[in-house]
Amino acid sequence: MAQSAPREIEKLREQIRYHEHRYYVLNDPEISDTEFDRLMKRLEALEREHPGLVTPDSPTQRVGGQPAEEFPKVRHSVQMLSLDNTYNLDELRDFDRRVRELSGRDAVPYVGELKLDGLSMALTYEGGALARGVTRGDGATGEEVTANVKTIRSVPLKINQKKLKALGDGKRFEVRGEVIMTLKSFEAANAQREAAEEPRFANPRNAAAGTMRQLDPRIVAERKLDMFAYFLMVDGRPALAEHWKSLDALAEMGFKVNPHRRLCRTFDDLLAYIQEWEAKREKLDYEIDGIVIKVNDTRLWEELGTTHKSPRWAIAFKYPARQATTVVKDIRAQVGRTGTLTPVADLEPVDVGGVTVSHATLHNMDEIERLGVKIGDTVLLQRAGEVIPQVLKVVKSAPDGRAFHMPRKCPVCGGEVHRVEGEVAYRCVNAACPAQLKESLLHFAGRRAMNIDGFGDALVDQLVDKKMVQDVADLYRLKQEELAALERMGEKSAQNLLEEIEGSKKAELARVIFSIGIRFVGERTAQFLADHFSSLDKLAKATEEELCQVQEVGPKIAQSIVEYFGEKRNRDALDKLKKAGLQFEQKKVQKAEGELTGKQFVLTGTLPNYSREEMTKMIEDAGGRVIGSVSKKTDYVVVGADPGSKLEKAKSLGIKTIGEAEALKLLK
Ligand code: IVH
Repeated sequence: MAQSAPREIEKLREQIRYHEHRYYVLNDPEISDTEFDRLMKRLEALEREHPGLVTPDSPTQRVGGQPAEEFPKVRHSVQMLSLDNTYNLDELRDFDRRVRELSGRDAVPYVGELKLDGLSMALTYEGGALARGVTRGDGATGEEVTANVKTIRSVPLKINQKKLKALGDGKRFEVRGEVIMTLKSFEAANAQREAAEEPRFANPRNAAAGTMRQLDPRIVAERKLDMFAYFLMVDGRPALAEHWKSLDALAEMGFKVNPHRRLCRTFDDLLAYIQEWEAKREKLDYEIDGIVIKVNDTRLWEELGTTHKSPRWAIAFKYPARQATTVVKDIRAQVGRTGTLTPVADLEPVDVGGVTVSHATLHNMDEIERLGVKIGDTVLLQRAGEVIPQVLKVVKSAPDGRAFHMPRKCPVCGGEVHRVEGEVAYRCVNAACPAQLKESLLHFAGRRAMNIDGFGDALVDQLVDKKMVQDVADLYRLKQEELAALERMGEKSAQNLLEEIEGSKKAELARVIFSIGIRFVGERTAQFLADHFSSLDKLAKATEEELCQVQEVGPKIAQSIVEYFGEKRNRDALDKLKKAGLQFEQKKVQKAEGELTGKQFVLTGTLPNYSREEMTKMIEDAGGRVIGSVSKKTDYVVVGADPGSKLEKAKSLGIKTIGEAEALKLLK
């Protein structure tokens, strides 16, 4: 080998740290997931060969070790204070006046930050490496949860030496911030808990806090927490004279710092910032419950001091909770794709923080029992981000409230409803139930599944009600005339739809496996199954033991897969899909030789329909390369909403810029 192992290991670690930062902190990866995995696998192999060279700050050490017995108690270097809250602007003005009076200044610049709804955490770094992560606890003493913190990919395990310069000798410093769970991870965690018969987390903050208390870091790693840093301290003091500069320094060192911070030179700037985010918080992928306002000049922090529990140089302005009370008019069972009956509350429509809500899911019978909710009751609702509204509790029981019972017959097809032993779910066992078929079709055509554009509720209702399709395979037999005759369809849209359906035949095996809707088989599992078996026919014949050999497949998933293929109806539909020409084998990964071979693409901004990963994959599949920054060698810059500086760079270099639609045309 040309390089010595220690050198290669160090080099790989640096590369991996760099790419982790691009991906998890900047959301701007430069290489594909496959390339990243390749670097990681290489490092793992080298470390296996040379166990003496493994260090705790190696990127391979994020998830590892045995579950802890308990968390040691650790005293904080400096008390972790909490903040005074206010809900009104007059009190905020009082705060500003007090700060100005106490400091003897006419105007005091503030830093405005989003108030992230999670749990606070103190990280200690020694010699540039993460040494300890401690929860807030009672403010004076917290619990050491280092192994759990290490699983958070946006938390750097090691800081580049050059970047430590700003901190004097950089031997030891402390970073404080908020550990959060994004709404996406929250939904995923709850879906998993439901499947495992565990109670749902009430909200992302509880989910993040509950996860941090897990003794097994492997479970923490699965839940995908994130952390934003908001304090940088050396020797228990603010590291720099301006808080704003500390935040920049943290970002420079590789921490994730919330990008929506703002330096407000005047009180009016601050008011504008608060107002702006009250509306914009709706669009965030995590919950905030207000704005934190901190005096920018950290030398004033000591002058202003603290009360017994909160500083006089900071305050939290809290937004009103997006809650409302309303009456439950009815509770009914909705039938899903796998036949599961989910209780849904029909509500007296009510405005919850600017959105009219008329339904809320009650998840399952256990949840109804926990809430004790009956038809006629008045309930408290809460809405977060763009997720489904939740019923928090019953605020007034109706004297004549009617209890909800799961129907014994499916409300859609009249088929038998069974409660599967050992599960909370009730299920309609009629595989031909139109409600199930409709949901299956929508799932099959979904963007992450076969990605058949133009396939919505109205169309599915007609196709099923008119008996034009009896299973998903019938989609591939639809004729232009019969489609064009449907409501809200014309010649042109019928033709487009047929083209989309035809195009879906190219979808890879993993997508096909995901699309057919086997219970518990999500996208990720489908990918593992495709990689393992390379063929749908082989998957269909696999036994439970064989299936358990596949990454992340346990007895429960294995059983569900065997049951799926055991049903004649499903096997018949699959035969039809195979005849229709869907990909039942894993294609060998080969780079297409085409016009795009070797062409360089750069992505910037948010595309309307495709994620960055999806677009990257499509470009790579077409033989192109996606790189992180624009240079003279770039061929195309694909521009989405809110593009970054890459767009300006492209313009100045005269590089061709295209939108998503044009990119898709090129890729066809
Ligand atoms: S500063 C003494 N900044 O809010 C200063 N806290 O109610 C206290 N929080 O315990 C922390 N986002 O868990 C600060 N940008 C932010 C924050 C933030 C969320 C939480 C934190 C703190 C609580 C105080």
